Amino acid sequence: MIANQPAALVKDHGGALARAEVRFGRPAAGWIDLSTGINPWPYSIPALSPAAWTRLPDYDALDALLDAAAGAYGVTDRAAIVAAPGSQALIQTVPRLRRPGTVAILGFTYAEHARCWAMAGHEVMVAADLDEAARADCVVVTNPNNPDGRQIAPALLLDLADRLVQRRGLLVVDEAFADVTPAISVAAAAGREGLCVLRSFGKFYGLAGLRLGFALGPSSLVQRIEAELGPWAVAGPALEIGRKALLDRNWAAAMRARLATAAAALDRMLTDRSLEPAGGTDLFRLVRSDQAPALYDRLGRRGILVRAFTEKANWLRFGLPPDGAAIDRLSLALANTE
Ligand SMILES: Cc1ncc(COP(=O)(O)O)c(C=O)c1O
Repeated sequence: MIANQPAALVKDHGGALARAEVRFGRPAAGWIDLSTGINPWPYSIPALSPAAWTRLPDYDALDALLDAAAGAYGVTDRAAIVAAPGSQALIQTVPRLRRPGTVAILGFTYAEHARCWAMAGHEVMVAADLDEAARADCVVVTNPNNPDGRQIAPALLLDLADRLVQRRGLLVVDEAFADVTPAISVAAAAGREGLCVLRSFGKFYGLAGLRLGFALGPSSLVQRIEAELGPWAVAGPALEIGRKALLDRNWAAAMRARLATAAAALDRMLTDRSLEPAGGTDLFRLVRSDQAPALYDRLGRRGILVRAFTEKANWLRFGLPPDGAAIDRLSLALANTE
């Protein structure tokens, strides 16, 4: 299937509370925003040096951030990692570095991949499986996938990268949500030709507004990304906060366990309401229901914003409720059919 993606910026990504208010009004009890897959328990922001704000971001501080990221992601080749203001910036940059060709996006997934490759002049198709995708010059796989949580085994991805590189192709693996499923990450293979892994800092660390992400790839690609992003691409506060958080392995281990517990609790509640999750990760759950549009409206009227999908009318994605009160409000809103 050839994707017919508009090149114009699509602003429908979840988290748009102001727009929800126009549609549903302002909820007396305040919004519960479950429309994103961002961790509701963010890493605590440490005290920052004044220089983080007042000086241009320092290359030594950038090196320290990259060391921390390489350690956290299991990257052994330090020349294989580059930082960016969010993995979105990398999703935009990588297609511009390739001569126009064919690109297969393993769908249905984060819409920005198709949009950005198409904008850079590539012929984009959405593939249903890896075999179909493997016919293109470049392949994009989000692993685990957003929004359905589909997981592809690392061995299959590494094999595909090897096949693509034989015809000078590239496999891009978007691991924006892989912090909760480290076993399926191919980050440790970063550096080999034909493989580019994207990591997002904002989702798992709950600091999406900081704008921090990483590309892991062969040094030739990493250098071209670096050149394309230009100097000072990552802000001083992001260098300091990112480094501290990525070095904090105890926090990451405890957070993985906490997210798994919360996702299981959300599953139980949804199942009790006859909305058994059809997939997801420990940062969000996907529900398929013929009632999805009506449920979206009912929740919106009760001040709970979830993620609907224009292309998949019967899908709803639920982020993790931040506390017991939020899960109770969600449960009540789902039970209440009037
Ligand atoms: C699959 C996926 N990749 C990448 C991104 C971009 O995230 P960020 O730029 O915050 O790292 C998103 C954002 O929602 C996403 O869902």
